Amino acid sequence: MYPQTTNNKSLTDKILKLKKEKNAIILAHYYVNSEVQDIADYIGDSLGLSQMAGRTDAKIILFAGVQFMAETAAVISQEKIVLLPDPTAGCSLAESINASDIIEWRKFNKDGIVVSYVNTTADVKAETDICCTSANALDVINSIPKSKKILFTPDKNLGSYIKAKLNRDMDVWSGDCCVHEEFSKESVLNLMSDYPDAHFLIHPESSCSHDPDIYNNPKVHILSTTGMIKKAGEIEITKFVVVTEPGVIHQMKMVYPQKEFIPADPKNKCFQMRKVTLEKILFSLENECYKVEVNQITTKRARPSITKMLEL
Ligand code: 13P
Ligand code: SF4
Repeated sequence: MYPQTTNNKSLTDKILKLKKEKNAIILAHYYVNSEVQDIADYIGDSLGLSQMAGRTDAKIILFAGVQFMAETAAVISQEKIVLLPDPTAGCSLAESINASDIIEWRKFNKDGIVVSYVNTTADVKAETDICCTSANALDVINSIPKSKKILFTPDKNLGSYIKAKLNRDMDVWSGDCCVHEEFSKESVLNLMSDYPDAHFLIHPESSCSHDPDIYNNPKVHILSTTGMIKKAGEIEITKFVVVTEPGVIHQMKMVYPQKEFIPADPKNKCFQMRKVTLEKILFSLENECYKVEVNQITTKRARPSITKMLEL
């Protein structure tokens, strides 16, 4: 999608050779380490990665990301081999809700609609009516009639942001992303006084996103990671404070070398995404491990919630 640089040459060469021989594609999220982004065939946000997983002709999809992303790929591309280089790469959001939590909610809300962020397990997706990502959450909620009761899972910050923006009553699950929870209103207001001429690219998973003092500020843009990259190109502004995991700045700098991108907190990295290394990717391709498989029954029940989102 974006220009690539080369480093760590011998490892990179081996990966690229093996990738070709095995007809594999490497899909990477913006939060993985820069050298991993550099060898990816496609780098994207959660929505773009799901779309690409559904579109590719490759025999093997190697996911440079976390478990829920690889599971989503396994559900939509059942005939493919899906590999996760580090099988322990999880996500605090995905771990905050179980299928049984949704089943319990439905007992009291028989006609309710369950919308789940894509950062959920396949078991949760199997109980979900429609998935969303940070890129399309407002559109997904808008597609549901106002008369319907909604449960939004699992991110409380994204859910509260949608409620505030759309003035819509929804039950919101109380999960959070351990990275974005740290971006409080106070920390962002401090950065605004440190960088008065900058615009702020803020991820809706951030705990500050649903505060009107933040989202009504004309210098603030609340967007998914891909949305942030696009926005930086659409406006004349040359200085941006990036309120999300700092990995995304690697692509921002490559796409707009003339602009300045300041991480809100350079140390606030997603340690789960950062588990993916070049060494693990090579091992994964060589040994075709660690395979991410979802059983037939769950796949059949989870797929409609993802395809509905992709069709929207
Ligand atoms: P997006 O890539 O959809 O913006 O989501 C960020 C994230 O936290 C993924 O785990
Ligand atoms: Fe999960 Fe947050 Fe890491 Fe994304 S950044 S994988 S939401 S813990």
